[in-house]
Amino acid sequence: MELQERRQYTLRNAKEDDLERIMQINRATLPENYPYYVFSELLRDYGQAFFVAEIENDVIGYVMPRIEWGFSEVRQLPSLVKKGHVVSIAVLEPFRKNGIGTNLLKASMKGMRVAYGADEVYLEVRITNYPAISVYERLGFRRVKTLRHYYMDGEDAYLMAREL
Ligand code: ACO
Ligand code: ZN
Repeated sequence: MELQERRQYTLRNAKEDDLERIMQINRATLPENYPYYVFSELLRDYGQAFFVAEIENDVIGYVMPRIEWGFSEVRQLPSLVKKGHVVSIAVLEPFRKNGIGTNLLKASMKGMRVAYGADEVYLEVRITNYPAISVYERLGFRRVKTLRHYYMDGEDAYLMAREL
């Protein structure tokens, strides 16, 4: 049994001061890492959908979005839509399974829709990342397609999406 941390957490929009900590969480939890300017530009451009979770003034999770124009991942006929892209989401291990990941994603999806007018949301996830896939499916994301050898180590991704 792992020790579970169940203290109160709060969600708020990310700010520039959080980025070093967000990068640290990203490196500790995922093999897909990015240079500082990527985090910084996404915060500048899409900050209304970029959220952190905090416990006692410590950031312990984040969701980082981008807004893009492109072909719909969910509609039957090809149509150009505004899409929210969940670039990266993570919660530090001791704080998982408390609903924080789910609520980060919900907050980001609301920001995508309300602040940026996104019609739908999509993301890529490793096909073996069951905890993440389960969170996304519970939130109504569907597997749209498999992206072969999407990751550097050769693993496939599911592209998952839903309407907003
Ligand atoms: N008590 C018990 N279980 C709960 C509670 C609760 N109060 N609240 C939620 N849960 C369960 C959920 O039902 C869910 O269960 P399930 O696996 O049976 O569906 C599970 O806990 C996880 O849901 P959350 O708590 O909302 O999510 P969590 O905070 O654990 O974060 C995340 C999920 C972000 C995927 C986390 O596992 C993580 O950081 N993983 C490593 C990084 C990662 O893989 N990120 C995603 C990569 S893909 C991408 O970034 C686009
Ligand atoms: Zn992506």
